[in-house]
Amino acid sequence: MTSPEIISLKNIHLTLMSDAGPVNILRGINLQIQEGETVGIVGPSGSGKSTLMSIIGGLETPTEGTVNVCGTDFNPLNEDELARFRRDNIGIVFQSFHLVPTMTALENVAIPLELAGHQDAFDIARQKLTEVGLSGREGHYPTQLSGGEQQRVALARAVISEPRILLADEPTGNLDGSTGDVIIQKMFELHDSHNTTMVLITHDESLASKCDRTVRIEDGQIVDINVPNKTRNLEEVTP
Ligand SMILES: Nc1ncnc2c1ncn2[C@@H]1O[C@H](COP(=O)(O)OP(=O)(O)O)[C@@H](O)[C@H]1O
Ligand SMILES: [Mg+2]
Repeated sequence: MTSPEIISLKNIHLTLMSDAGPVNILRGINLQIQEGETVGIVGPSGSGKSTLMSIIGGLETPTEGTVNVCGTDFNPLNEDELARFRRDNIGIVFQSFHLVPTMTALENVAIPLELAGHQDAFDIARQKLTEVGLSGREGHYPTQLSGGEQQRVALARAVISEPRILLADEPTGNLDGSTGDVIIQKMFELHDSHNTTMVLITHDESLASKCDRTVRIEDGQIVDINVPNKTRNLEEVTP
């Protein structure tokens, strides 16, 4: 049985104006992702990977084409509605952590729920920090944490609302190998325990191959979709 489609991109184009004239950043992207799937996105620097992720997250609006996420068509939504949709459904992790430097780890993680008016924001944030292995670090500020720890805080923040989709843009790009592996392991644990759909942008082919599918982007187009010969998540493909 196939799972329902959670991300659907149809004929996505993004053209931006520059001094030198129009620049075609995305050129006709078609991509369907099933609920609970993990998808690795690979491709050279400047090929449009981050832009594609911004479009899935509703942070950027395509010039042409249809984006449908969790059954919601983005086209009629204004910026506030997109922000609300994102808050409720999508967690995002960036290469450079994007933590608020003047807030503790706990405060950083609690922000999304606090803004949404949750009474239990700090209790849930504490649980999430424990899930990523950072209990005892709640009161630390970002500068008092290592890169890997900061990324774990960012991951806890991204999933505090238990989003159906987790987007990660080069989440291990600023980390050394073994620290990066811990982050990836945590991401896959969250995927396994919550059936979170995961879109993972990475330069690391071996990391991408841990995903159900690898999508290769070059010059704003999908040039290859590959299903690695993998052994994890076998239960998901067994009827
Ligand atoms: N806001 C922008 N204005 C102009 N060009 C942009 C903008 N954002 C991205 N680009 C260009 O779009 C292309 C794709 O960028 P990006 O999606 O960041 O690629 P990747 O993540 O694959 O490295 C690059 O050539 C980049 O310079
Ligand atoms: Mg990028």
